[in-house]
Amino acid sequence: MENMLQVSLNNLKLKTPLMTASGTSGHGNEIDVLENSPEVRSSLGAFITKGVTLKAKEGNPEFRIVETDSGILNAIGLPNEGAEFFVKTELSGLLSFELPVIVNISADSIEEFGVLSSYLCDNDINQIISAIEVNLSCPNIKKGGIAFGTDPAIVERIVNIVKKNVDDRISVITKLTPNITDITIPARAAINGGTDILAMINTLRGTAIDIYTARPLLGNKTGGLSGPAIKPVGLYMVYECFSKISECSSRQIPIIGIGGISRWEDVIEYIMAGASAVGIGTAWFVNPDLFPDIYKGIKEFVKQKGVPISELTGIAHQDG
Ligand SMILES: Cc1cc2nc3c(=O)[nH]c(=O)nc-3n(C[C@H](O)[C@H](O)[C@H](O)COP(=O)(O)O)c2cc1C
Repeated sequence: MENMLQVSLNNLKLKTPLMTASGTSGHGNEIDVLENSPEVRSSLGAFITKGVTLKAKEGNPEFRIVETDSGILNAIGLPNEGAEFFVKTELSGLLSFELPVIVNISADSIEEFGVLSSYLCDNDINQIISAIEVNLSCPNIKKGGIAFGTDPAIVERIVNIVKKNVDDRISVITKLTPNITDITIPARAAINGGTDILAMINTLRGTAIDIYTARPLLGNKTGGLSGPAIKPVGLYMVYECFSKISECSSRQIPIIGIGGISRWEDVIEYIMAGASAVGIGTAWFVNPDLFPDIYKGIKEFVKQKGVPISELTGIAHQDG
């Protein structure tokens, strides 16, 4: 029965299709349930870290999170101690989870993505890192604030430089931004750049105003929307890529579906739309038992269906 939930994303083998979404569990040390609950860990297929940058970053001024009707807006700003601190102090702590570790990275330039990925790979002496997830939603300082992920030529170059700088044993995941009209354009660019896996979506741009001070509530003025409100958008983007990109429908390039998942039924929807695995973030802030709850739900569903979860990928595209 356990095998029914196993999934393979090329070289990345997961015992369940459930993963933490980047930035919503720190580096593992900020979420007690991960350290203290074997049940939570055994329901997960992989752990994804928060964003790591080459140099330490302070992050944005407060408020960094604002609640919305069906989700949250965040403008955290990638606070972290930098890559050196991460590999020397934080990475080894993730070994105790006994899960594949996926490191999410961000950088301010194409070249910096190369330097960062090569640094992480060279200093991963215990071979803890299974995959690097490239966050393309960060602003490109050299181009004056345009997100990298909206320019297909830049997407291709970033993915290519990361791919060249990591060992073959490390999978490259490209995480796409939904702040674009046609998601298949950056998705194809990432495939051309050599990505092994696609992940979608990151947060949708948004803001909130304090009507009593007449000022934006977020310290950064604008932020990214996540949580249940964005599920139809993430689902649509997975559906689009699976239906329009042959490498996705053939599963040569598997998709990790992210965005607004809060129930086991949402996971099944993402898988039927074309995802091979999923990432879950915001809903975990609300329910610490979320992963075991979802695990039980999908396990029961595949048992009733009598097919492994991997066979459900993309079935919403079948004719008839
Ligand atoms: C507080 C917070 C921090 C996040 N930090 C990162 C990050 O460091 N890197 C990244 O690629 N995505 C980051 N994200 C985006 C999530 O990984 C995810 O793509 C998004 O929240 C949608 O999933 P959800 O609706 O399940 O939260 C962050 C999201 C939140 C809410």
